Amino acid sequence: MKNITVIGVGYVGLVTGACFADLGNRVVAIDINEMRIENLKRGIMPIYEPGLKEIVERNVKAERLSFTTDYLEALRDAEFVFICVGTPEGVDGEADLKYVRMAAESIAKVMDHEMIIVNKSTVPVGTGDWVANIIREHQPRPIPFAVVSCPEFLREGSAVRDFFNPDRTVLGSMDREAANKVAQLHLPLRAPIVITDLRTAEMIKYASNAFLATRISFINEIANICEALGADVKEVVQGMGYDKRIGHHFLEPGVGYGGSCFPKDVKALAYMAQVHGTNPELLHAVMGINQMQRKQIVIKLQDLLGDLSGKIIALLGLAFKENTDDIRVSPALEIAEMLHDLGAIVRGYDPAAMAHVARAYPFVQLAADPYDLAQGCDAVVVATPWNEFKALDMERIGAAMRQKVIVDGRNLYDPERLKALGFIYRGVGRGYNGALNSHNG
Ligand code: UDX
Ligand code: UDX
Repeated sequence: MKNITVIGVGYVGLVTGACFADLGNRVVAIDINEMRIENLKRGIMPIYEPGLKEIVERNVKAERLSFTTDYLEALRDAEFVFICVGTPEGVDGEADLKYVRMAAESIAKVMDHEMIIVNKSTVPVGTGDWVANIIREHQPRPIPFAVVSCPEFLREGSAVRDFFNPDRTVLGSMDREAANKVAQLHLPLRAPIVITDLRTAEMIKYASNAFLATRISFINEIANICEALGADVKEVVQGMGYDKRIGHHFLEPGVGYGGSCFPKDVKALAYMAQVHGTNPELLHAVMGINQMQRKQIVIKLQDLLGDLSGKIIALLGLAFKENTDDIRVSPALEIAEMLHDLGAIVRGYDPAAMAHVARAYPFVQLAADPYDLAQGCDAVVVATPWNEFKALDMERIGAAMRQKVIVDGRNLYDPERLKALGFIYRGVGRGYNGALNSHNG
């Protein structure tokens, strides 16, 4: 049982803290957002993440997890301090580290005993040394500490599962003993532990996310080529994936990747590369394809409906992916903005993200459910592949629509079945311009 402090109760920090508590450690979580902390004390979660509420409640009850806004209280018994504050995209794509700086300075000012600082947030290569310098500068008197990089590999919507079932734990530090102590915390997860130096660990995180983003832009480009050549990308992936070097996973063509990680991490890596004199041309291509993929949806709507001004377009799904309420860099909402700029009337429905959308995108008319959403619209766009959309009564959806046009941005539906129901169907990479057997529509 160790004493752990987690700074930042966002998508990463809250999951990390609650799950370490669930492993039997004593965890204190701190955040500068008092509302978040007050709500957590009352059992109200700041984020939608399957399974999180139960874990938080169980560990608060067992007195292994507590919340505060006071750094003195948070660090009193700390042996490990995990920095889990956001590292949003800054100017030119460089990661904005102002929150990491704030956290490091706050730690330094109150630390009165040796502790291990663990960088969980995704930070540019070299940040570990930078954090150490900030702490040394702000300590009232020199207190020994070590900095360890421990990047997160949690996917939103499966973060709790990913925490308990990591493919690997990556640790980086100049202080081997400190890295070993952080490794001990992760032993119950029974996954391979890679221990390296700070910069290499930070680079593993960026290289991993950049590779995953590249897979997505790759298959989106293949989907676009399939539309030009009349092939079905779903079957292409099926045929490719049996090659163990390729696999079937993470090759879903769609509207392009979004979220709070891939877009900013690929940009940050390209930025780091450029300012250090190299030319990240593949990463630039990955980003260019990704941006174009959203536009493809609008182009398909224009092909099918002509001038979009005044047309009612319904977005099925608004979050950046399924099983999350997160709308940060959501392709669905970037498509909504493009449609809005073209004068279309944009309607939307999402099982979890609507409160965030109402605040940030007031022009999106929110519907009560998918059937209400389809009422009188000229097209439905599948933008986020929530499971509940897979079982919709498509006959009822079609009957509610003014024009039975569906642009399936996530290849959620069977084109033949929808065509049989009278829909004009366009998928992504599903035969010529996304319409399998395009001779019938
Ligand atoms: C995480 C990772 O930290 C980031 O590296 C990754 O790229 C995206 O996911 P995330 O948990 O999504 O960031 O950030 P967010 O949901 O914004 O939560 C950050 C929390 O830190 C917020 O609750 C914010 O109030 C808090 N915070 C911020 C502090 O407690 N102290 C600060 O100084 C700044
Ligand atoms: C990602 C990484 O997977 C995770 O390891 C890292 O720690 C944080 O960033 P996340 O962004 O939460 O996790 O979601 P992920 O499931 O990776 O999807 C990222 C984006 O790519 C989403 O917009 C998703 O819809 C899209 N995606 C994913 C595809 O378009 N096709 C795919 O095959 C997979």
